[in-house]
Amino acid sequence: MNNVSIEYLSSHIGEEVSLNGWLYNRTDKGKLQFLQVRDGTGIVQCVVFAKDVSETLFAEAAGVTQESSLVVTGTVRADPRAPGVPGGIEIGVTEVRVVQLAQDYPITPKEHGVEFLLDRRHLWIRSSKQWAMLRVRATVMRAIREWLDSHGYLELSTPILTPAAAEGTQTLFEVDYFGENAFLAQTGQLYNEANIAAFGKVYCFGPTFRAEKSKTRRHLTEFWMVEPEIAFCDLDQLLEVEEQFVSHIVHTALRERAPELKMLERDTASLEKIVPPFPRISYDEAVERLKNLQAEATDPEQKELLKIEWGMDFGSPHETALTQQFDKPVFVYGYPTAVKAFYMEPWPGRPEVCKSADLLAPEGYGEIIGGSERIADVDVLIRRIHEHGLPMEPYQWYVELRRFGTQPHSGFGLGVERTVAWICGTEHIRETTPFPRLINRNYP
Ligand code: 4AD
Ligand code: MG
Repeated sequence: MNNVSIEYLSSHIGEEVSLNGWLYNRTDKGKLQFLQVRDGTGIVQCVVFAKDVSETLFAEAAGVTQESSLVVTGTVRADPRAPGVPGGIEIGVTEVRVVQLAQDYPITPKEHGVEFLLDRRHLWIRSSKQWAMLRVRATVMRAIREWLDSHGYLELSTPILTPAAAEGTQTLFEVDYFGENAFLAQTGQLYNEANIAAFGKVYCFGPTFRAEKSKTRRHLTEFWMVEPEIAFCDLDQLLEVEEQFVSHIVHTALRERAPELKMLERDTASLEKIVPPFPRISYDEAVERLKNLQAEATDPEQKELLKIEWGMDFGSPHETALTQQFDKPVFVYGYPTAVKAFYMEPWPGRPEVCKSADLLAPEGYGEIIGGSERIADVDVLIRRIHEHGLPMEPYQWYVELRRFGTQPHSGFGLGVERTVAWICGTEHIRETTPFPRLINRNYP
């Protein structure tokens, strides 16, 4: 018997096949049983008709419970009305073999609270929306590598155990390294800056860690970040790379994950519009726009949340309000030096501002990319390390890079979970990763 996975069923119409899977859901209508079977690649309706099978088999099929593992055999039929993913196909069942009969599966088709579901994340990932989202995630991760690999970037892994902070000392996870202090990496960027002088264009792609002490819908304590870094590249050139890169990711997801995005009820028309160029506004202009929005706001709560003065970092209400003015991601460049990391190149003639740019996703999904041109000059870098109150010793090697063939260089980091949340249209980023790590959650 030909064992086929659901995603390939459409090329087996009229054939008898078997498939291995789990019972997702069922509907019983007298002589007809409709078994929704999932196998990891899709969901298909398997129809057990009393007239086609023995009484014993009909009774056995009637006893299959939600999430029981089984092997179904039957004939593949095309039926445009058939539900499922990709849909349009059903199986006329001739045989059902139960591998294990599941009892009292806790996640039933009724509504459950999020904490209940997160406690059962090891099971929740089987649910259709979670499944769809994690499939989109895998495609996003593949599209990331695909674009970078085909544009001359070399993937190099950077350490996870590190001696120094790169993105501020507030969010460090400390670990004991044989009696010495080490930190889980917040970023691989500093090592990428060494790697570019050996390889030109590089990227690292892996988990990064931030002891984020606040509960928000945009922060995880462990998240995946891809960080490209480019030698001989200034901020303007960097933004061109970013808009090409992000557009490729979005369009790959649209092309390859249409059924999943449909399951997620995502309005894909807004994603179709994501093509270069993306609008660019300076931090100064963003503050002016926000001041106007704040003045116009009629809701007192919103008025309070939108308060802004030059020099402040943006909070999510600011980012949301700002991005609502555009239908593409928007670059905000030239943030105040005081709110950004120590390594950013000062703006020529305006040291209170730096050559940074964040990319804010539309529809209120917030910052998906943080990037900048890096300080190339050794003395400026040393001064900035001191100004940030950082110890010199762990950065010796990083400073030394500026003594041997320094050049203007730039790079950025794109957060996978925030990007997936935006593409899937998901409120909270905790669902965009299989096993989220949050301030109050390290289980399962
Ligand atoms: O803006 P960030 O902190 O930039 C860096 O780490 C730079 N070293 C990157 C670089 O230039 N190579 O983080 C980059 C992105 C953010 O825009 C966001 O998408 C994501 O990483 N991010 C988080 N995602 C989930 N949870 C968190 N706690 C995140 N913190 C940052
Ligand atoms: Mg940032």
